[in-house]
Amino acid sequence: MNLRAVKGMNDILPEEIGRWHQVEAAYRRTLERCGFREVRTPVVEATPLFVRSLGEGTDVVDKEMYTFQRHHDDLTLRPEGTAGAARAYLEHGVQNREPVTRWYYVGPMFRGERPARGRYRQFYQAGAEVYGDPGPVSDADMIDMLVGWLGELGIGGLEVVVNSLGSAETRTRYREALVTYLTPHRAELSEDSQQRFERNPLRILDSKNARDQALCADAPSLLDCLDPEDRAHFDGVLQALDALGTRYRIEPRLVRGLDYYTRTLFEIRTTSGELGAQSALCGGGRYDGLCRSLGSSHDVPCIGFAAGLERILLAMTAPPTPPNPFVMVAPIGEEAAAAALVLARDLRRAGVEAHLESKGQRLKAILRRADSSGATLCLLLGEEELANQRVRVKQLAQRTEEDVPRANAVTHVVAQLAAIARGASVP
Ligand code: HAM
Repeated sequence: MNLRAVKGMNDILPEEIGRWHQVEAAYRRTLERCGFREVRTPVVEATPLFVRSLGEGTDVVDKEMYTFQRHHDDLTLRPEGTAGAARAYLEHGVQNREPVTRWYYVGPMFRGERPARGRYRQFYQAGAEVYGDPGPVSDADMIDMLVGWLGELGIGGLEVVVNSLGSAETRTRYREALVTYLTPHRAELSEDSQQRFERNPLRILDSKNARDQALCADAPSLLDCLDPEDRAHFDGVLQALDALGTRYRIEPRLVRGLDYYTRTLFEIRTTSGELGAQSALCGGGRYDGLCRSLGSSHDVPCIGFAAGLERILLAMTAPPTPPNPFVMVAPIGEEAAAAALVLARDLRRAGVEAHLESKGQRLKAILRRADSSGATLCLLLGEEELANQRVRVKQLAQRTEEDVPRANAVTHVVAQLAAIARGASVP
């Protein structure tokens, strides 16, 4: 029996988690400053929710979903967050309470893709959705917010690419133009794209196959098919980005892999760090028709995005922020164990991170452990300290030591840690 983690699904060990927390904390700060509130939806949803939202003929629905039957229900591990969030938004009647709703989420998603660097089968997304705002200003606001967050994380080499898919009618018109253009080349397309030809020809523009890409280079441009309202909307997005000073490149063949999109589409890519081919850090767009297709009696204009957290971590080159300072509380010998326990508890109540050494070891072994653990102070309680109601406080970096009355030990440690944080020298 192979008891290893499932291929493409990774453990995140404590030594790596500091960077995750750093990225997530910056994300929450950025989003909350822009008026977003966190939503948490289940990891499992009814399969038809994803089929209807993302669309048959998309790679995610056709090939990548983790679907299973349980209690006669057809269920799927969520491959993305937009469908579940829209379901929750409609199910709880949020549109009746709020004209505009801004939600964000952070959590695991599941897609049975071929694993590679930056591409996993369980991966984490930080995403956000805005309901009830037709844009175009909010579209630019969202893109700029993302650029701000990625910039704060020190990720350089960012490129914002934008496009507009237009309304559902524009897409139908474009689909016809594309099919007309591709028909003479049909036999030259990759096997995957030949299948897409009937069901979802726009996906061919998304193909990673070099021959498909060469054939698509001269395909008609989506932007030429936009109707005047779509065009005005797209121009509004670009003008707002210009006003913000956010640089972008228009990519007329950007279609993205999910079917719910209308009008604005965007991706943010990077050349920084170790990402290689998986350079899309985040992607999103408008999906003004999704709520109606999920049962809403009227259209709700929506826009959202999701960022892949593993990719962001791979793109980050800055050193991780150092962990919080902590102290070690160490009994020397079994008799001091209870006194050390009480001291550690008192320190924690005063806000100090205190790690209790539970084994009553010998002094030399304790100090070796304290050094390798990265503790700032080591508080020693031996037979002598117990008898005299005192604590020995060792400052590990400077190898200095003080003998402090037990009654003052907590205030002493708090003051000493504060002084070290300020960079002051401590005896
Ligand atoms: P998506 O482009 O499928 O969009 O995924 C968004 C981001 O998730 C990608 O840019 C990438 O960073 C990350 N990602 C996707 N698949 C993987 C994977 N297998 N391994 C690692 N990272 C991955 C969506 O998911 C939409 N729900 C975004 C959205 C929200 N659109 C509107 N609202």
